[in-house]
Amino acid sequence: MNPTLALRQAQQLWNELARRDALRAILDSPDGEDLQTFFDTGIAEIEALRERIEKLGVHFGGHKALDFGCGVGRLTRALARYFRHVVGVDIAYEMLVRARSLRPPDNCSFVLNCRADLRLFRDGSFDLAYSSLTLQHLPSQLALAYLREFVRVVRPGGIIAFNLPSHRVRPGRIRRWVGQSALAILQLLAYYGRRFGMNPIVPMRGIPSCRVVSTLQVAGARLLAVEPSNCAGPDWASYAYYAIVPVSDPAS
Ligand SMILES: C[S@@+](CC[C@H](N)C(=O)[O-])C[C@H]1O[C@@H](n2cnc3c(N)ncnc32)[C@H](O)[C@@H]1O
Repeated sequence: MNPTLALRQAQQLWNELARRDALRAILDSPDGEDLQTFFDTGIAEIEALRERIEKLGVHFGGHKALDFGCGVGRLTRALARYFRHVVGVDIAYEMLVRARSLRPPDNCSFVLNCRADLRLFRDGSFDLAYSSLTLQHLPSQLALAYLREFVRVVRPGGIIAFNLPSHRVRPGRIRRWVGQSALAILQLLAYYGRRFGMNPIVPMRGIPSCRVVSTLQVAGARLLAVEPSNCAGPDWASYAYYAIVPVSDPAS
């Protein structure tokens, strides 16, 4: 797919979802779940990330972190406990409006980026690039381009961490349905769904883990660990990836 078109579609989709119910679009949390519970999930996720990275022998924290696909700042705010400045980047203006209105800590900032790259950031300007529940919704070409950009914007010795599905382990709900019922029923449902204001469907896309690993390595990162993740639910085999940008040896 043409990257410009893919980005435009992603932007429309996420703006629309944010206008309807930004929190549910992000976590699909049960009705009535309060804001504190929502943000607590972010704290738990970043605590788990910190523990994992420290177990890999790398210090967690520092000057600047990037939260790519930040939404309303669920993880940006949690990262702000460990980094002097955290930049949340998102393609959806409506998500960022929500993120700013929810009184984030002073050391968080939120930036709109509608490009297929991160050229608004200098090389080596972050200690950590983190992305959760975001790359899985992008066409693979775009997701891999952002991974290369993570390697570029992270300083030598800094960390890149993200989650991504690799491949399906069973057919998705819609495919299972289509197997059992007529396509016409689906078309009717889609028609009435839109009429009655149902949320648009968010695409889920996997990238084979070997391709993710080789993209990181070719871009110059060193892989630290690849571990199972539940980022895309039970229909997918998914992984959490941890990589470091190597410090170049002055002798070489
Ligand atoms: C499921 S939400 C996850 C939000 C956040 N990472 C979290 O876990 O709370 C996905 C987010 O990615 C954003 N997004 C989608 N495509 C993007 C892109 N190309 N660049 C930046 N953000 C993007 C969406 O607008 C949305 O806010």
